[in-house]
Amino acid sequence: MSILQVEGVVSGYTDIDILNGVSIHIGKGEIVSIIGPNGAGKSTLLKTIIGMLKPRSGSILFDGRDIAGMTTHNIVAQGMGFVPQEKNTFPSLTVMENLEMGAFLRHEFTDILNEVYHIFPVLKEKKNHRATTLSGGEIKMLAMGRAMMPEPQVLLLDEPTAGLSPKLREVVFEKIMDINGTGTTILMVEQNAKKALSISHRGYVLEMGENRFEGEGSTLLEDENVLKLYLGE
Ligand SMILES: Nc1ncnc2c1ncn2[C@@H]1O[C@H](COP(=O)(O)OP(=O)(O)OP(=O)(O)O)[C@@H](O)[C@H]1O
Ligand SMILES: [Mg+2]
Repeated sequence: MSILQVEGVVSGYTDIDILNGVSIHIGKGEIVSIIGPNGAGKSTLLKTIIGMLKPRSGSILFDGRDIAGMTTHNIVAQGMGFVPQEKNTFPSLTVMENLEMGAFLRHEFTDILNEVYHIFPVLKEKKNHRATTLSGGEIKMLAMGRAMMPEPQVLLLDEPTAGLSPKLREVVFEKIMDINGTGTTILMVEQNAKKALSISHRGYVLEMGENRFEGEGSTLLEDENVLKLYLGE
């Protein structure tokens, strides 16, 4: 059964529809990537799933429950996490305070905090440093660590490697696989489409608010049309 099933979702910011009936499904334990050109509606899709935008039609089932139209707070409480591309940490708080904020729904979080420190040793090293003093890569790690604190079943990541050097991108992709290894299902949007697909079980190509292609990560990487149109070959 799919842990997340988006069916025919129409959504947007003004009276113009940005998503024109997008459908995706994610199985428990999968890593799924969404790729596509700028402005395709990838971030809009994540924002709609997490409840920042209300779908105008269509359904969003999370573990069998319809969450379309629920508040973000409610959806997070049900086990979904979201790391937006920007403004994803509290700069004036320390690393540890940021992680504690992520656990706001929990009374006891020592185990998950240790798990986060295990995956991101740099966060343990710098736990008393203010987030403003972290590098771009460390901020990404902190944002992901913070999103892990409520132990979400599904984690949505918007451009987790944007703005990072090729070397740091590799590190972040490895961390995403580590998080997935703890049993967390991952849905990510990525510009580094090739690498993202290479670590994904499946992927979707969105264009102009519509589904274009879908398939296994490895299959999409070999698809001539996908290569030519979306992977720059
Ligand atoms: N806050 C907003 N208000 C109005 N329109 C918006 C807003 N945010 C995005 N849009 C519009 O929605 C469309 C899709 O944007 P979206 O951010 O979902 O694209 P994207 O696929 O994530 O692109 P990118 O790869 O550049 O991040 C664009 O035409 C954009 O201008
Ligand atoms: Mg985007």
